[in-house]
Amino acid sequence: MDMEQDQKWVNEKVKIGKEVWYLTRDEVVSAGLTEADILSLTMDALVAHGKKEYEMPAKIGVHPFIEVFYHAMPAYVPSKLALGMKWIECYPNNPSKFNLPQTTGLLILNDVLTGCPIAVMDCAWITAMRTPAVTVLAAAVLHPDAETFGMFGCGVQGIEHIKYVVHTLKKLKSIYIYDVKEEYMDNLIKLVQPKIDVKIIKGKGYEDVTKSCEVLSSATFIVKKPYSFVKYDWVSKGQTILPCDLNTFWDPAISLKADKYIVDSIAEHELFAGVGYFPDGLPKVVCETGEILAGLKKGRESKDELIVCSNIGMSVCDVVVAREVLNRALANNIGRKLPL
Ligand SMILES: NC(=O)c1ccc[n+]([C@@H]2O[C@H](COP(=O)([O-])OP(=O)(O)OC[C@H]3O[C@@H](n4cnc5c(N)ncnc54)[C@H](O)[C@@H]3O)[C@@H](O)[C@H]2O)c1
Repeated sequence: MDMEQDQKWVNEKVKIGKEVWYLTRDEVVSAGLTEADILSLTMDALVAHGKKEYEMPAKIGVHPFIEVFYHAMPAYVPSKLALGMKWIECYPNNPSKFNLPQTTGLLILNDVLTGCPIAVMDCAWITAMRTPAVTVLAAAVLHPDAETFGMFGCGVQGIEHIKYVVHTLKKLKSIYIYDVKEEYMDNLIKLVQPKIDVKIIKGKGYEDVTKSCEVLSSATFIVKKPYSFVKYDWVSKGQTILPCDLNTFWDPAISLKADKYIVDSIAEHELFAGVGYFPDGLPKVVCETGEILAGLKKGRESKDELIVCSNIGMSVCDVVVAREVLNRALANNIGRKLPL
């Protein structure tokens, strides 16, 4: 569909310039995107990013408290007519203090021809889906034969990572998980084990999980100071490590000494480094995740390489997934119009 046809189609459902389509969190989910859909859309977004067919300035943020951030994440992906902005916050203490998620937010989509906002939707589910999709797509290209996967953090992201990883690492035999809270591990196993054939094993601790797995990921919390829960001495050549929590969880020596340090967005990582998130220095970046997925750069070149691939989250993925959510919601009359 070209830009004019797209606008005409949207305008039949929501009067552009006069109305917006609003989707609650449940309505975003009931638009019906499957894990396979999310993987395919995220792949498209990453490939567009790799080919530089996008516009996405690095996130800017505000920080009303130490260790808390809000990010404004605009993006335009022309091939998908996906243009908009995610406004998302991360409050690590929300779960314990307020019984609320760490991450909440909204996403706005705009009509490319006129700029008018056409939709507003909750963005928590989209974020919870596209983040593991990025991890597991990167894992598949960097370590396709992996038989073991380890996940640190068994919250929203950890749960979804385990659901998604079996789609792309087809040879997995065991999945190890670890969380500081035992009940979060039990909850993950209860929710996810019935859905997948690969055995999920409760890890004994950081060292045990690190030494048991070829591919590892972490989604715990993001702060400026690295906590180094996993020590450099425990990792080995040939592993692939895919942090979602920037520089918090792993000993910085791991990224600094890795054979390859790959990131989803160099601009984002430089921006974080510029405001103090890499006190030991930003490791030398060899390329971006999307460049490997687009076939423009090499990923793993030998079985012995230690590879760290840090994906901090890109709005190109959010707007591409959100645009498909909107398309399906409009087609099936899910959600409601609100006057502008
Ligand atoms: N890279 C991205 O695109 C992206 C997107 C969304 C969220 N995130 C980040 O992922 C992280 C997790 O988000 P979430 O929504 O799953 O949060 P959550 O609160 O649902 O889950 C976090 C889990 O980590 C566990 N945890 C905390 N410290 C730990 C430690 N030292 N060792 C092991 N487990 C530990 C907690 O007990 C909890 O179960 C956050 O830092 C968030 O900012 C990244």
